[in-house]
Amino acid sequence: MNIFWEGAHLVRKYRRIAALRDDLRFSRELRDVAEYEETFRHYTGRSIRGARILDLGCGNRPIRLLMMQAMGWDVVGLDVQVPLLSLSALPEVVRRNGPLRAFKSLARYFLSARRELAALRARHPWSAVPLVTADIADPLSWDAVGSIDLVVSEDVFEHLSDVETAVEMMASALSVTGLALIRPNIFTGITGGHVLEWDYPLDRTGSLEPWDHLRRGRGRPNTYLNRLSRADFRAAFARWFDIVEERVLFPELGREYMTPELREEVSHWSDEELFSNRVLFVLRRKTATTSPDGSASGGEPAVPARRSPTDCVPG
Ligand SMILES: C[S@@+](CC[C@H](N)C(=O)[O-])C[C@H]1O[C@@H](n2cnc3c(N)ncnc32)[C@H](O)[C@@H]1O
Repeated sequence: MNIFWEGAHLVRKYRRIAALRDDLRFSRELRDVAEYEETFRHYTGRSIRGARILDLGCGNRPIRLLMMQAMGWDVVGLDVQVPLLSLSALPEVVRRNGPLRAFKSLARYFLSARRELAALRARHPWSAVPLVTADIADPLSWDAVGSIDLVVSEDVFEHLSDVETAVEMMASALSVTGLALIRPNIFTGITGGHVLEWDYPLDRTGSLEPWDHLRRGRGRPNTYLNRLSRADFRAAFARWFDIVEERVLFPELGREYMTPELREEVSHWSDEELFSNRVLFVLRRKTATTSPDGSASGGEPAVPARRSPTDCVPG
């Protein structure tokens, strides 16, 4: 029963994604990549060309990574899963991702990815894509990545079970003048429950009420969520980074669904939390005179010590 439900969900999801992609023609990814370039220049005064870039949690649909590679930028992707970019990668995908995820990747490949990758390659021909397949919280994966000038990450941090370690690892890999652009989909926003009917663009066809995930929690997200609020992310990043800017992708998203009764029901959340969705945190490694524990560090940049692999706590 579960497998049928799962299968039907996947078909529905990828059909919708395929239709959207055809309409939008990579517009979101193009906009994101342009934003990386512009923001990096704005905050560092340097061109992104020549910078070493990490796409953290690049995903099994690593469009931005492929675009950046096609632009000749020095990029590397890190994800715990291997993307199925061609059928020849299938054995590796089965080995690394397991049979169930490989089956999902295969379904996605035939339903949307194959056509999408061909369309992308026609516009942005990429070659070999450097990928590190590992857990973000594993110090060994960061050894393979090396020193980075720009970290970008989309829709990943809300899925991490150990955000603190991920942030620390990221800070240790970032060069002193580097920048991190981290955009989680915040749990407290209308899209934060990660259910199809309340994803962007909002299309109220299902039975779930808005912000159901903060109220009754009847939706079944198809993925792990750490349920961190925007304030939680701020606190996690602020340990190692100065947050120099926060940009909400769709300000006021869902405002039309917020009734006075509903507002009362979720009154313990601020408007800022409820109308957050994909929030870009622009992060610079701390260069303050205080270290994360508040003690003076004599003006030296606060940098976490690189852990050795033996420091890694399993699970
Ligand atoms: C929702 S997807 C986003 C993928 C991509 N950034 C995008 O925007 O399409 C989240 C990705 O984070 C990856 N991920 C989750 N936890 C991870 C971890 N601990 N280490 C590495 N990758 C992880 C998943 O494998 C998945 O590819």
